Amino acid sequence: MKNFKRYLITSALPYANGPLHIGHLAGVYVPSDIYTRYLRLRGADVISICGSDEHGVPITLKARNEGVTPKEVVDRYHSINKKAFEDFGIAFDIYSRTSNKVHYNTASEFFLKLYNKGEFIEKTTEQYYDEEAGCFLADRYIMGTCPNCGNENAYGDQCEKCGTSLSPNDLINPHSTISGSKPVLRETKHWYLPLDKYEGWLKKWILEDHKEWKTNVYGQCKSWLDQGLQPRAVSRDLDWGVPVPVEGAAGKVLYVWFDAPIGYISATKELTPDWEKYWKDPDTRMIHFIGKDNIVFHCIIFPAMLKAEGTFILPDNVPANEFLNLENDKISTSRNWAVWLHEYLEEFPGKQDSLRYALCSNAPETKDNDFTWKDFQARNNNELVAILGNFVNRTLVLTGNYYGGEVPRRGKTGENDESVIREMAQIRNRVETSLESFRFREALKEAMNLARLGNKYLADSEPWKLVKTDPERVKTILNIALQITANLTIVLEPFIPFSMEKLRGWINANGFTWQDAGRDDLLLPGHTIRKPELLFEKIEDSQIAGQIEKLAATKKSNETAAAKVVPSKGPVTFDDFSRVDIRTATVLEAEKVPKTTKLLKLKIDTGLDVRIIVSGIAEYYEPASLIGRQISIVANLEPRKIKGIESKGMILMAEDSDGRLVIVAPSEKTGNGATIK
Ligand code: 2FM
Ligand code: ZN
Repeated sequence: MKNFKRYLITSALPYANGPLHIGHLAGVYVPSDIYTRYLRLRGADVISICGSDEHGVPITLKARNEGVTPKEVVDRYHSINKKAFEDFGIAFDIYSRTSNKVHYNTASEFFLKLYNKGEFIEKTTEQYYDEEAGCFLADRYIMGTCPNCGNENAYGDQCEKCGTSLSPNDLINPHSTISGSKPVLRETKHWYLPLDKYEGWLKKWILEDHKEWKTNVYGQCKSWLDQGLQPRAVSRDLDWGVPVPVEGAAGKVLYVWFDAPIGYISATKELTPDWEKYWKDPDTRMIHFIGKDNIVFHCIIFPAMLKAEGTFILPDNVPANEFLNLENDKISTSRNWAVWLHEYLEEFPGKQDSLRYALCSNAPETKDNDFTWKDFQARNNNELVAILGNFVNRTLVLTGNYYGGEVPRRGKTGENDESVIREMAQIRNRVETSLESFRFREALKEAMNLARLGNKYLADSEPWKLVKTDPERVKTILNIALQITANLTIVLEPFIPFSMEKLRGWINANGFTWQDAGRDDLLLPGHTIRKPELLFEKIEDSQIAGQIEKLAATKKSNETAAAKVVPSKGPVTFDDFSRVDIRTATVLEAEKVPKTTKLLKLKIDTGLDVRIIVSGIAEYYEPASLIGRQISIVANLEPRKIKGIESKGMILMAEDSDGRLVIVAPSEKTGNGATIK
């Protein structure tokens, strides 16, 4: 491999529309952090870049659902996620955000450069438009049936069931996710990056020059390239995003997947005035850490953008991971099926490394994998506590007890000692080879094998027994065990940095580099160590049971919701709907209808008249509590006789999944007779 002078590590910018979960961590951020920490230990010139992806339809949809602005959504999740990353020890050099001014300028300049070079195609096409909401329906603003698998809930950009990437015009029976209405086609102008123009170059660059990329990444790229590339729109008709910086583009913003990867460049600019050295010098090795759903954007579209721009380097590798499931079910934000990082940090204080360890040991590197709480507990208790913690504890406690914490001098060594020293000498190479191939599970296993070796060495040589009969020999054994311990602080630092920092404190050794790994003279005789505490604590069954119960409750509530929400009715025309005269009114009098349990007779002021309505709400409302209350009614319902009383109209009620009725009223008081539409 080429000898690079420096590294630029990027980690997919998570959307600031929700909190981080273990799927994000296992897929992207734990591996990128391990790799970055390893490079830093080597003394490499490395920067690690990340930040919030703050544009795109997922954010505006969330804002719309919550009735807040997109800015409020991204501000909230940017700070939650930034803090969670910091607390979890993901050591980015910068965690920026794409709503920053630097980013707006950088993304606009990038677009303009391509625009001025004539790299875009300008096309006017017919796209779906929601006449009720008054906007075009990009990406997730439109849903319909997937032409590939028949899923009725496919989005305008992707079917989440079969993974097919779609455009709104592919959907069968499309409907707007804003108003539910059937959209119409309207002409609109957009800018397209002609990916087809880069197809030949991409084929050579990926399929020939980057055969070393992970099989899952290479395979996905090949399949895209084999299908043939089409021009791809890089703008959208939306009001949230970086405005398209050319004349005649009012109401248009850059497509989120055009601006987000440029976010890596903006964040680097924000981090250092020397940013160009990282982005423009071919001696920089750029590596994108991402999840598998981001492969096409980082391996095909962004490289084509960079190539079109002409002055930037390209990624040297894109080690994408597959997905992590949770207890045999797909992680899902909308179904709350996830282990949320900020919650984990609160519920397991000080146990960042337990999760880092479990996620790396079980990382979905070549296929989707499953996280279970039982496995998490077993990895912590049987590996971190029983192997690593046990070895370190025995070594440090015995050194304290026998030598007052001074590293003893090694005497004559026997075959077993020599074999342990030889094994230890291999550690750097073993862990490094796996790390350099982005096989982090294997690298962790290799590093832990050193602790296993140490444990076996102590168990076989039993210094606690020999101390009475052969104290000189014990000095040799503990000297070697201490060298193993010092080596562990190096090779495990990228994986479990919190614990290794503690351990480095206990052995009073902070200056080791990666290149020191494998040495058998890291702690010299006479060097003093401190009294250790416990490196890892057991995770109790009760804690795991608590987490499993929490998930069971989530599952139950999801099932209840799915079972009880009344399926949506078939479509009605706008004209049908407008014939229903819904208005505000106020209750003047209320009394029970004699000999009934459910009916109330209400005298109401509709603004048009004063009339009687009989309503089946007696189980939920005391008559007196209704007097003076504003309600909503269907004013033009045909009169009906109920228990001999003529009822003129109907009160609007919301009926929840348990059949409970609640009055639907305007959120603020209005005059009577106001029409509801
Ligand atoms: O999939 C996602 O969460 C995207 N927000 C990733 C963007 S990566 C980069 F391009 F910014
Ligand atoms: Zn599908």
